[in-house]
Amino acid sequence: MPGFEVIGAEERAEVDEVFDRGGVLFRHGFDALRNDCYKVREFEQAFAKRMGVEHALAVTSGTAALRVALATLDLQPSDEVITQSFTFVATAEAIIESRAVPVCCEIDETFNMNPDDLIARITPRTRAVIVVHMLGTPARLVEIKKICDDRGIVLIEDSAWGCGGSLDGKPLGTWGAMGTYSFDFAKTMTTGEGGMVVFNDARLAEKAKAWHDHGHENNPAVPRWEDTRSGSGFNYRMMELQGAVGLAQLRKLDDVVAQQRRNAAAITEAIADVQGIVPRVEPKGSAGTADAVIFGVRDKDAALSCRRELLARGISTKILPEATTWHFAETWVHMPELVAAHGGNLTEAFPRSRARLEAAVSLPVFVNMPEDFAGRVRDALVAALG
Ligand SMILES: Cc1ncc(COP(=O)(O)O)c(C=O)c1O
Repeated sequence: MPGFEVIGAEERAEVDEVFDRGGVLFRHGFDALRNDCYKVREFEQAFAKRMGVEHALAVTSGTAALRVALATLDLQPSDEVITQSFTFVATAEAIIESRAVPVCCEIDETFNMNPDDLIARITPRTRAVIVVHMLGTPARLVEIKKICDDRGIVLIEDSAWGCGGSLDGKPLGTWGAMGTYSFDFAKTMTTGEGGMVVFNDARLAEKAKAWHDHGHENNPAVPRWEDTRSGSGFNYRMMELQGAVGLAQLRKLDDVVAQQRRNAAAITEAIADVQGIVPRVEPKGSAGTADAVIFGVRDKDAALSCRRELLARGISTKILPEATTWHFAETWVHMPELVAAHGGNLTEAFPRSRARLEAAVSLPVFVNMPEDFAGRVRDALVAALG
């Protein structure tokens, strides 16, 4: 959660520097005015270094990051892209915006993509898979990457919640051909709105850079207004003030994640012996961002009862059990492309996900956690579950 919790003097100093050095807010050009101040460029370089990748491209949102990543694949209207049923609408929206067919698959006890159901939904038209590390816990990347590699399918990680986490020591977002991040205001690090795409393949990176900037190739041999171009694109450029905030937030990322992990561990320990709780399964080697603590309970009524008791003690839940509307594909009847791709009826499309999500509770984890928080959570769950 908490990039916003630690926003302060460091972000302000970075922003001030943009104005002190000429106030150029555009990421390109105006070289004579900007006194060598290029915050977005600097942010991309620092982010690539932190994630251990060759290339990073800053964009305007996590949704834009997904759209830009998909744009590198030259998708055709009958191509299919598979993601998971439990994610934010943005993942499916980006597939639809890319003119591909959005297909969702079931989740498993990790609350992320179920590898067996992924295999079942792959067809000869499947071009890409977008795996999501929902609420900061890694998906089964080892299995999912192998499934994709064996079939020549492009793997993209929607690491909107995974920024700062890793699996087997490898940062989330860097396992597939491309990884995307969100820096919206609810994420582990924030630029208000913003996102990033990371790549190791220079060809994909160049294509994405051009596409997110109307096709501009930023050819150093010519001025921008005479720039070379090989294809069309759009505008998803990040601006300098976001880059400035991002630099300061990135420097805090590891401390934020470490504190979240400590706080999540304290909550998990406090509720460990409460009857009727089944903790979310984390793949071996997981070091998540600890954005939330998720557990299953007996059924939907038990989950709602937990929520009631938590609210009574001033603690809200995060997405589960109450907010699946924005995060569960079964409810996205407003997306005709998604409905059509699932036989015209979403209600029967993901029964295993439905059963898991409606009987689950997700607790938010903050950096600045009150001392009595874990105890209050425990009291609420004991009251709810008996
Ligand atoms: C899984 C997932 N993907 C993508 C996004 C989109 O990010 P943004 O809000 O920066 O567009 C979100 C936002 O919450 C998300 O949760």
